[in-house]
Amino acid sequence: MQNMRVVKADMSMARDIANIGAKTISHPYSLEQIRSDIESGKYVYFVAKLKDTVIGYISLYPIFDSCDLIQIAVDPASQKQGVGKLLHDYAVHYLLDIGVNRIMLEVRRDNTAIDFYTKLKYRVISRREKYYGDVDALIMEKLLK
Ligand SMILES: CC(C)(COP(=O)(O)OP(=O)(O)OC[C@H]1O[C@@H](n2cnc3c(N)ncnc32)[C@H](O)[C@@H]1OP(=O)(O)O)[C@@H](O)C(=O)NCCC(=O)NCCS
Repeated sequence: MQNMRVVKADMSMARDIANIGAKTISHPYSLEQIRSDIESGKYVYFVAKLKDTVIGYISLYPIFDSCDLIQIAVDPASQKQGVGKLLHDYAVHYLLDIGVNRIMLEVRRDNTAIDFYTKLKYRVISRREKYYGDVDALIMEKLLK
């Protein structure tokens, strides 16, 4: 997608992130939670911007040489155009730079995002049965090195 760039999010982008989460994630974070995450400095958010409009984000929780991928979401109008992959590629470069060598995530067994993660070379390493009511959670991992 032309004119798109990825930048590290600051507090001024928290509302845009919350709005995209509300449109795409089944249990989205509140604006307050996102603000608190960014303020803590423990979580890293990157956003994809098309001109001045935020069209997607990825949130990460790096700890030592490992990182949890907390959420990735792209505005429905911009999905399936490479935005999610670009955000993820950007995150991988950042994580390699700070010494992270694996990314882990948890996803509902019925979320089609599993196909996206599989394309990005994540593999299922365990399953939490009925973690979401009747639905299992899958734990997926991608090794960076
Ligand atoms: C998952 C998500 C971030 C993918 O973003 P996206 O910008 O549409 O993905 P991309 O266009 O970069 O796709 C990269 C690859 O994954 C594939 N892909 C993306 N979403 C897919 C889906 N739902 N099902 C199957 N394949 C998918 C694409 O076809 C593409 O494959 P290709 O390289 O062979 O063409 C987006 O669908 C989304 O926001 N979903 C809702 C939020 C969510 O569930 N997030 C995950 C849990 S936090």
